[in-house]
Amino acid sequence: MRTKLFSLALCACSLFVNAQQKPVYQDETQPIEARVKDALSRMTLEEKVALCHAQSKFTSAGVPRLGIPQVMMSDGPHGVRAEINWNDWGYANQTNDSITAFPALTCLAATWNPEMSALYGTAIGEEARYREKDVLLGPGVNIYRTPMNGRNFEYMGEDPYLASVMCVPYIQELQKNGVAACIKHYALNNQELWRGHIDVYLSDRALYEIYLPAFKAAIEKGGSWTIMGSYNKYRGQHACHNEQLLNNILKRDWKFDGVVITDWGGAHDTYEAAVNGLDIEMGSYTNGLTSESAFTYHDYYLANPYLKLLKEGKVPMSTIDDKASRILRLIFRTAMNTKKPLGALCTESHYAAAREIGNEGIVLLKNAPVVKKGNPLLPIDASRYNKILVVGDNATRMLNQGGGSSELKVKDMISPLAGLKAIYGDKISFAQGYAAGRPMYGRADEIAPEVEDKLRAEAVEKAKEADLVILVGGLNKNHFQDCEGGDRQQYGLPFGQEKLINELQAVNPNLVLVLLSGNAVEMPWVDKVPAIVQGWYLGSMGGYSLADVLSGKVNPSGKLPFSFPKKLTDCGAHAFDELSYPGDSIKEEYKEDILVGYRWHDTKKIPALFAFGHGLSYTSYSYSKPMASAKVMNADGTLTITLKVKNSGSVAGKEIVQLYVGDDKCSVIRPQKELKHFTKVALQPGEEKEISFQITADDLKFFDEATHDWKVEPGKFKAYIGASSTDIRGIVPFELK
Ligand code: BGC
Repeated sequence: MRTKLFSLALCACSLFVNAQQKPVYQDETQPIEARVKDALSRMTLEEKVALCHAQSKFTSAGVPRLGIPQVMMSDGPHGVRAEINWNDWGYANQTNDSITAFPALTCLAATWNPEMSALYGTAIGEEARYREKDVLLGPGVNIYRTPMNGRNFEYMGEDPYLASVMCVPYIQELQKNGVAACIKHYALNNQELWRGHIDVYLSDRALYEIYLPAFKAAIEKGGSWTIMGSYNKYRGQHACHNEQLLNNILKRDWKFDGVVITDWGGAHDTYEAAVNGLDIEMGSYTNGLTSESAFTYHDYYLANPYLKLLKEGKVPMSTIDDKASRILRLIFRTAMNTKKPLGALCTESHYAAAREIGNEGIVLLKNAPVVKKGNPLLPIDASRYNKILVVGDNATRMLNQGGGSSELKVKDMISPLAGLKAIYGDKISFAQGYAAGRPMYGRADEIAPEVEDKLRAEAVEKAKEADLVILVGGLNKNHFQDCEGGDRQQYGLPFGQEKLINELQAVNPNLVLVLLSGNAVEMPWVDKVPAIVQGWYLGSMGGYSLADVLSGKVNPSGKLPFSFPKKLTDCGAHAFDELSYPGDSIKEEYKEDILVGYRWHDTKKIPALFAFGHGLSYTSYSYSKPMASAKVMNADGTLTITLKVKNSGSVAGKEIVQLYVGDDKCSVIRPQKELKHFTKVALQPGEEKEISFQITADDLKFFDEATHDWKVEPGKFKAYIGASSTDIRGIVPFELK
C-alpha cells in the first residue's frame, strides 16, 4: 500500500515537473499574447522570415525546431477545395478530399437570413477542420459593381449593409472550429479583367460608404483572423502592400491583430511588402490559377530579399517582429489549438444545411398567369401536367466544376433534372436545348452553329408535345461566364439561349425559366416568359432545393442581393466612358461614385428590371402603416419604427421586411435611400407579427470628405419600409435635431 502511494506521488510529481517545464508558448493555459512573446524570443531572424512566405502552393512554414506547425490553407469560399499538388497547380488526385458543395455566396446573401449564414459557417468549418485546414480562403465580400464581373457569384451583392450583416455569422461559426476565415479580396477587386494591375481611383466617400463596410464588419464584428489582399492597385500601389489600406485603415483604424495574406501572386515589391503591412506572401510569380515559374520560395519578396534588407538595416526589425507575432497568434488560434473540435465531412447535417440555405436563397423573380385570370405557373401542381419537359445544359451540368479557385470536388451532387425527377418521376423528359462546352481557362469553347441548331430544334419539337416546359439555363462556370480570371463578354444570355427561349415560348407558352448564375442577365424576352426563378449555383443539394421550390414544397423567400438593370448602360459603372469600366487597362475611375446598384437606379430614376430586394412568394403579405416612436430624433437618441406584417395568403412563408433611410436635403449628394435594417419573419397563413427597427444617428451619416469622418446633418429624413427597394409599403418622415 505504501509503495503504491509512493509511486502515485512520484508520478504526480513528475507530471508537475513536466507541466512546469512546458515552455510558455506551448502552454494553452497562458494568455495568447504571452505565448506569442515567448515564442518570438526563442526564434532566429531566419526562422521569423520563414514564416512570412509560402513553402508550397497552399502552406506557409511554422518553426520546426520549436514544434510550431505550418499553416495549411485551402479555398474557399463555397466548400473546401480538393488538394492541390505541393508545388504546381495540378490536383493531387487524392481519394479522401471530396466534400459538400454549399450554395454560392450570392445565394447565401439572397436568403437575407443571418441564421443561414451561421449554419453555413458551422458546416463549412467542420469540413475544413476535418480536412485539417488552418485557414479557409473566404468568404468574399467585394461589392457587386457591375454584372460583368466574372466573380460576383463568390460575393454577397451590391449593398454594404447586407454584405456586412451576412458575412459576420459565417466567420464566427467557421472560426469556432479552429479554422481561420480569410475575408477577401481587400479591396476594390470589383472586376476580373486586368485584375493583376488595374489601378483603381475613387472618392474616399465611395471607399468608406460602399466598398469598405463589409470588410470592416468582418474584422470588427466577425473577428476574422486573416484577410486576403487583392491583386489590383489602389491609388498607384498594389493592394497587397498598400500603406493606406493595410497600415492605416486595417491595422491602425480597425485594430486588426490577425494576418494579411496576399492573393496568390499579389506581392510585387520587397520594401513595400516589408513596411506596408503584408504578413504572408503566397503564390508569387504565378497568376494564382495556372501559370508556373522557375523561382523558388526563397526568391519570394518576403523571403531572402527581405532577410537581406533586414540584415542591411534597410527596413526596421520591428516589421519582422510584427509579422511573426501575427503569424504565431494565428497558429496558436488554429493549428496549435488542441481544444478545437474534430470536424466532419459530408454529413447528413451538412447536406441538410446546403439544402436549407438553397431553399431560402432561391428568388422567384416573376410568376404570372399564362392566360388572363388564370393561375400562375408556379408552384407546379403535379396533377395538372402529364408531360413535363426539362430543357437546358444547366439541368445536368456539374456546376461545381470550373469557375476558378472556388472549383469543388463533390462527393454528391443532385442536378436539377435529378431533383425534378425525384418529385415528378416519369412525367419528366429531357432535351439539352443548347450546349456550353467544357469549363476551360484562357478561351471560350466554341460550339458549332449546326450543333446549336440541332439541339434547339430537338428541344422545340419535344416542347410541342409537353404540357409544361422548364428551361434550366443561365450562365455557367466557363471562362468569360461566372468564372475567375476574366469578365463576361456580353450582358445577354450566352450559347444561343435567347433564340431558344423565343422558339420554346412560341410553341409552348407554359414556360418556366430557371436561371443558374451569380450575375444579372439582360432579358429582352422577359414579357414572353411567365415564370422566372433565380436559382444561383446551389451546390451539392441544388437539384433538391430547386425542386422543393418549383413544386411548392418550399415557399420561396429569397430576395435579390443586387439589381437587374434592363440594359448594361442602366448600371452606374457603365453609364460613363471606358475609364469607368473596364478602365484603360492601366487605370480605372469609379465615376458613379457612391451610386452603386439600387442607389444609382433610385437616384437617377432609371428603373431596374428587377430591383434590389425583390423576390416573390406563393403567398402574399400585407403591411400595416409603419409608426415612429417620435417625430423628432436627437442625435444621441434612437427612433423606433414599428409595423405589423401579415401573411394574407394561404401558405406559410417568410417575408423579408426592409428599412431604407433617405435624407431629404443635404450639403452633399445622397442616394435617394439606403438599406439600414432588415428582418426575415416566418408567418403561418393568417398570422400577423409586429416588427420594430431602431434607427440611430449612425444610420443617417455620410462620409464627409472634408473632415475625413462620418457626419450627420440635422434636418428632415424619411424611413421607407419596403418589400423591396422599389415596393415601398410605407414612408415615415422624421426630423433629426
Ligand atoms: C484567387 C483567390 C484564391 C487564390 C488561391 C487566386 O487566384 O483570386 O481568391 O483564394 O487564388 O487559390
